[in-house]
Amino acid sequence: MIEFADVTVRYQTGVKALKDISLRINLGEFVYVVGPSGAGKTTLIKLIYLEERPSSGRVFVNNVDVSQVPSRRIPYLRRNIGVVFQDFRLLPRLTAFENVRFAMEAVEAPPKLIHRRVMEALDQVGLAHRADAFPEQLSGGEQQRVALARAIVNRPKILVADEPTGNLDPETSWEIVKLLETISVDGTTVVMATHDREIVNARKKRVIELDGGRIVRDQQRGMYAGVSALLP
Ligand SMILES: Nc1ncnc2c1ncn2[C@@H]1O[C@H](COP(=O)(O)OP(=O)(O)O)[C@@H](O)[C@H]1O
Ligand SMILES: [Mg+2]
Repeated sequence: MIEFADVTVRYQTGVKALKDISLRINLGEFVYVVGPSGAGKTTLIKLIYLEERPSSGRVFVNNVDVSQVPSRRIPYLRRNIGVVFQDFRLLPRLTAFENVRFAMEAVEAPPKLIHRRVMEALDQVGLAHRADAFPEQLSGGEQQRVALARAIVNRPKILVADEPTGNLDPETSWEIVKLLETISVDGTTVVMATHDREIVNARKKRVIELDGGRIVRDQQRGMYAGVSALLP
């Protein structure tokens, strides 16, 4: 469960990236966050994975009021959150297997579990046969699938993805979106920021639209652009 109550984020520069945002996202929901560049999508995603804190208002992630918790507890809370970025962010000197394993070692998973879980995660994204490949030997879509395996290997309750298809061609983008949907069907909450109109329109999921740091639309089974955008 994710809940924002009157959240404002004001950066050092004075820019207000989010203004009085209130929202609630339930367990297992799949939500697209859309809006023009600079609308505040990345900031909203960062609040969920605890990379930013609100300047005012409260943010609850997995029932913890993260606006209040001390910084030293943040890494521990992050264990329940998987993250995928536009630029994959794999470690170039590690194989696919090692990249995914790294995420399990970081949370001090029992060594006995690691090999099996890493292979299961790679299998889930269809890349078990590429376990020994290095990132540079993989296509963009394959790299993003490894990043996805890394994000889910610890079985997080929440998965956030910030424009995960931004560097991929349309066909590869579909593969990633279908994988994200499968992950949400298994009970993980998925929040995906995107510019991809076609994907949002085709999937008919909940759409939260931001503009200038405010929510201008929150619609079940939404399209990329709201009705207002279709009016002359
Ligand atoms: N670290 C930062 N410091 C100052 N301003 C920032 C920072 N990150 C983002 N911003 C500003 O906050 C606003 C929202 O940015 P962002 O959340 O990245 O939007 P989006 O992901 O929708 O493009 C923009 O005006 C952006 O320039
Ligand atoms: Mg962004």
